[in-house]
Formats: sequence, C-alpha cells, structure tokens
Amino acid sequence: KYKGIIFDLDGVICHTDRYHYMAWKNIADGLGIYFDEEINNRLRGVSRMESLEIILERSDKKYIDKEKEEFANKKNELYKELLNEMSEKDLDKKVKDTLDILKQRGYKTAIASSSKNAKLILSKLNLIDFFDIIIDGNDIKYSKPDKEVFEKAGIGLKLLPNECLVVEDAASGVEGAIRAGMRVAGIGDAKKLGDVSYSLESFEDLQKYCI
Ligand code: BG6
Ligand code: MG
Repeated sequence: KYKGIIFDLDGVICHTDRYHYMAWKNIADGLGIYFDEEINNRLRGVSRMESLEIILERSDKKYIDKEKEEFANKKNELYKELLNEMSEKDLDKKVKDTLDILKQRGYKTAIASSSKNAKLILSKLNLIDFFDIIIDGNDIKYSKPDKEVFEKAGIGLKLLPNECLVVEDAASGVEGAIRAGMRVAGIGDAKKLGDVSYSLESFEDLQKYCI
C-alpha cells in the first residue's frame, strides 16, 4: 500500500500545459520555426531552457545564450499573462474532490514539478496549503527525466520510494519517477507508456488505486 502520492502539476492538477503550448507557439511563430502539439509533448516535464532547446532543434539559425535567454523570458511573460486569468474556478471539481478524498484516506501528498511558476499556480488555485510538500523548478538542479524532483519530494514526505505513487502526464516524468524507484500512474499521453503501473482514464480513477 502507498503512503504518499506525488503529483506533477502542469497537465495533471491543472491544464497549464495548454498555456505553455500557446506561449511557446507564439515564440516559435515569431522566429519562423515549425512547432506543433507533438513537439509540445516533448516539452512536458522539461525545464524552460531545455524546452527552448527542443524548439530550436528545428531552426536553421544558431542563437547565442543572450538571445536564448530573451526568448525564454518572453515566453515566460506570455505564459504568466495567461496565468493571470487563472483562479479557483479553473480547478476541476473532480480533481479537488479526489484530492480531498485521498487526504481523508490518510495519504500524504506532494507536488513534484519542473516549473518555477508552480507556487504561483497553486496559490491561484487555492491549493498552496493543501500539499504536505511542494518541490518545484526552484528547488532542483536537474529537471525530469532526472529523479531529483521525485527524490526530494519523497524525502520531504519522509517516505521510502516504494511507499510513493507518482501521478504524471509526461514521458520525462514517468522516467524520472522510475529512476527514483517509485511506481507511476500515467494520465493523458503518459497513460499509454509501458512503464506505468496504472493507466488513468481520468484523475478520479486514482480513487480506485489508492484505497
Ligand atoms: C513543467 C512543464 O511543469 O514546467 C514544462 O511540463 C515546462 O512544459 C516546465 O517547461 C518549466 O516551467 P516554467 O513555468 O518554469 O517555465
Ligand atoms: Mg506535466
């Protein structure tokens, strides 16, 4: 039986993955670089600068670090404009109810996100005090598929890796969790990955596996 559940944020708790896509699309279009949903899937779980590098793979031009920093900053500005509109009403009721039920059942809960905006998003959703621990892009040196963010979340919960279940929508996150010795419930695109222990059709399905 699991004692703790470690949640990814973007694409699991909320649909900010859409906003990431829209903001990157704007940058890519501006640079005349092809970008679509499939390429976007490779950005899931990956840090901001690494995401930019993936987008620039399709560019004929080479950019210097200062330019790359400008693109990443611009993307983050656009992304944060989209986040501005966010509030508690953007938290799916079924997600909130499921989180409450899991907590009532005694599970410890954590966020393990590569995002440096994680706390901003969680406060907009009124979830900042819900989780026992939040590990985000500001707390880690290596982003997913590294295991660091999951290891830190497990340590923060004072649990062993095999006592933790990770909920992920990204291939990079599934890989990182497995490297950390944790089992994974995949949602969205990640539910089809061979490495996941459970495939969630919807977030509420967690209630079936965490009894
Ligand atoms: C992850 C997203 O949660 O955070 C990635 O899945 C994103 O797509 C990463 O690149 C970093 O986010 P931020 O908010 O620090 O730019
Ligand atoms: Mg995600």
